[in-house]
Formats: sequence, structure tokens, C-alpha cells
Amino acid sequence: MKDNLFIALEGIDGSGKSTQTKLMEQSLIARGLKVYTTFEPTNGPIGSMIRSVLRGEMKMDDRAVAGLFVADRLDHLLNEQDGILKKLEEGYTVITDRYYFSSYAYHGAHMDMDWVIAANAMSASLLRPDVTLFIDVAPEVSMTRLQERNEKIEIYETLDNLRSVRAKYVEAFEKLAGTENIVFVDGNNSREAISRDLLRQVEHML
Ligand code: TMP
Repeated sequence: MKDNLFIALEGIDGSGKSTQTKLMEQSLIARGLKVYTTFEPTNGPIGSMIRSVLRGEMKMDDRAVAGLFVADRLDHLLNEQDGILKKLEEGYTVITDRYYFSSYAYHGAHMDMDWVIAANAMSASLLRPDVTLFIDVAPEVSMTRLQERNEKIEIYETLDNLRSVRAKYVEAFEKLAGTENIVFVDGNNSREAISRDLLRQVEHML
């Protein structure tokens, strides 16, 4: 049992992670916890550069983008103002919308996954999630959700890519099953059912 947890939500684009992060925050606050929610890519300087690459405004080799994510993640953990390690020390339960498994899945689709895992070793040794919750949604369902959303489709948001990213997530989870606590939650259900399932997975740890 722990007083505060570090929870990572993972899923392909359109899996509903952002909504579920908010719902989990509300539920945990209602239980009397101090909760801090955050996301990757961050909105810090490195994260902003990443977002402009994702929007297609800046061209960059995939390997360099993977490196930017490594740096953004370390800043996310270590920065003195609102870094995750500081927030945990202050007693917050921290929920992050994406963490290093996103890198393994998204960059592992373009390059050797073992390289991506090795490049993120510093983050993993600084802080492993108490639990990584994977919202598992069918790529076709998530593509429909993305098309209904009123935003520009990002460069990774094609059906083929969603399929290959999901497969890479599964590959990474299998590879690291011995060292990581990973839970799959059915993301094809209603928003409320998913939220209930996710909460059930963390409640027993508190
Ligand atoms: P978002 O849609 O959840 O805001 O994430 C933005 C995109 O960034 C999404 O397509 C996944 C991608 N991404 C990576 O490619 N590598 C990473 O390490 C992370 C955290 C996200």
C-alpha cells in the first residue's frame, strides 16, 4: 500500500487517454488524494519543439525526434518547478498521459525498439510507474474518433500507423513484463465503463 502513486496512462491516438486522465483525477480527488495530472510531450521548451514536428511544421529525422522525447521526459521528471519527482515528494499522486512506453511503441515502429528502451534507461531508473494502464482500443474505433474530433490530424494518425503502434505496444509490454506492472483495460467500452475499470486497478494499491 502506498500513500501516493505514479500512474501512467498509455494507448494509441484516439484511445481516450486524456478524458480518462481527467476522470481519474476527479475520482481520486473525491477520495481525498492530492492529484497532479500531466502529459507528454510536455508543454516545456523541448515538448513545444516536438509538437511542431508532429504538426508537420518542422521536418526532422525520426531518430532525432526519439532523442527529443528522451530529453523531454528527463525534463518532465527532473525540472525543479513542477517535475514529476518533486510532485511525488510533495505527496501528490501523479497521473501522466503517456510515458516511456509511448516511445517504445511509437519509435519502435521506425527503429530498433531495444535502442529506444536503452535511450530511456535513465528515466526508467529514476522512476518506474507503480502501474502502466493500457487503454486498448481497436485502431478502427480510434480512427473514427480522431476523424470526429475537430482538430488537424497529426502525422502519426493514419490507420496503418495506429495498427502498427498498437502491435508495438504489445511487443514492448511482452518484452518488459518482468520489470513493469502493466494492466490492459478494454478501451472499446463506454467512457464510464473504462473509467470504472481503470479506477478499480489503482484503488487496491492505495
Ligand atoms: P498525444 O496525442 O497523446 O498528445 O501525443 C502526441 C503524439 O506524440 C502521439 O502521436 C504519440 C507521440 N509520442 C511519441 O511519438 N513518442 C513519445 O514518447 C510520446 C510520449 C508521444
